[in-house]
Amino acid sequence: MSQQVQGVIAPGKNEPVRVETIVIPDPGPGEAVVKVQACGVCHTDLHYKQGGINDDFPFLLGHEAAGVVESVGPDVTDVAPGDFVILNWRAVCGRCRSCLRGRPWYCFDTHNARQKMTLTDGTELSPALGIGAFAEKTLVAAGQCTKVDPAVAPSVAGLLGCGVMAGIGAAINTGEVGRGDTVAVIGCGGVGDAAIVGARLAGAARIIAVDIDDRKLQTAKTMGATHTVNSRATDPVEAIRELTGGFGADVVIEAVGRPETYQQAFYARDLAGTVVLVGVPTPEMKLELPLLDVFGRGGSLKSSWYGDCLPSRDFPMLIDLHQQGRIDLGAFVTETIGLGDVEKAFARMHEGDVLRSVVQL
Ligand code: APR
Ligand code: ZN
Ligand code: ZN
Repeated sequence: MSQQVQGVIAPGKNEPVRVETIVIPDPGPGEAVVKVQACGVCHTDLHYKQGGINDDFPFLLGHEAAGVVESVGPDVTDVAPGDFVILNWRAVCGRCRSCLRGRPWYCFDTHNARQKMTLTDGTELSPALGIGAFAEKTLVAAGQCTKVDPAVAPSVAGLLGCGVMAGIGAAINTGEVGRGDTVAVIGCGGVGDAAIVGARLAGAARIIAVDIDDRKLQTAKTMGATHTVNSRATDPVEAIRELTGGFGADVVIEAVGRPETYQQAFYARDLAGTVVLVGVPTPEMKLELPLLDVFGRGGSLKSSWYGDCLPSRDFPMLIDLHQQGRIDLGAFVTETIGLGDVEKAFARMHEGDVLRSVVQL
């Protein structure tokens, strides 16, 4: 028996999103229906609405979510009805070359639910990042559900489903920030701030926050930045070099996704330092660097895809640290809103004072 619930649909390119009745099939083999409790509003949802990801309208938006498993299909063993879970957009296969080589975060056979959710007229929906959680319930692959401590607030837990995990993971997984390191973070929105939290967690001695907006730098300080640089007023490469005795930072995390800021990251690192690109560039962006400068510097240039996270390893650990008060994921929740407020939340993203609006159900 399928069921009908309310969900937020992006009907066509740049059209306003709206709440509509959607049809959720019963979970098939390897699938689960999750009663969504909270789902953060991410830039990627806006990109879907704008047609920037693909043209598979209508989309069922939302992908940064936590909730309770309502029912599971055949062959599901890892989660059961009643489990409190965080959804992830990359259920790994466990069998491909990357998985077998112990690098499941590069799995090339990630999967989502096979069945489709639809509108009441039968139109198939494309769930954002294979999740679609701006909805009372959603259908996912069971491997997209990671059990965590149910005592944590869903609005906080859901954040790990995307942006906050991407930022923390850029520092602790991809950047491998170590005790005593100097870390610079360029771009202090939700992702950059999460990278700051990750750097602090990993024991960085100095965390230099770089942004063009003083308000963002203020927030970055509350997240753990020890130094701030407004790159409109001061050359960030020089400022970072000055703060590191002329050497540059051990790890520079670029959380904007632009060639200029990547270039700053490239030159602001120590000769043996690491650059982590976690900001997402657009297809037309190009990077030009003197090859001699690439040759002349050691270290490594890395990109971080979803914080190179392994949900089963990282979600429970970060929830545990949050519950112990060692990190404050709640600081990323600026406001909680209803399903009907997603369009307004998109508009607020550009105002600059929102880290995350979270739809609460
Ligand atoms: N130099 C420094 N900071 C900049 C610059 C710049 N040239 N341009 C923008 N910024 C800052 C903004 O002021 C803002 O604080 O970068 C930050 C970007 O933050 P958000 O817009 O909130 O984006 P966020 O959610 O943090 O995501 C950052 O990661 O996941 C990707 O698609 C996402 O590319 C985006 C990036
Ligand atoms: Zn795999
Ligand atoms: Zn996202």
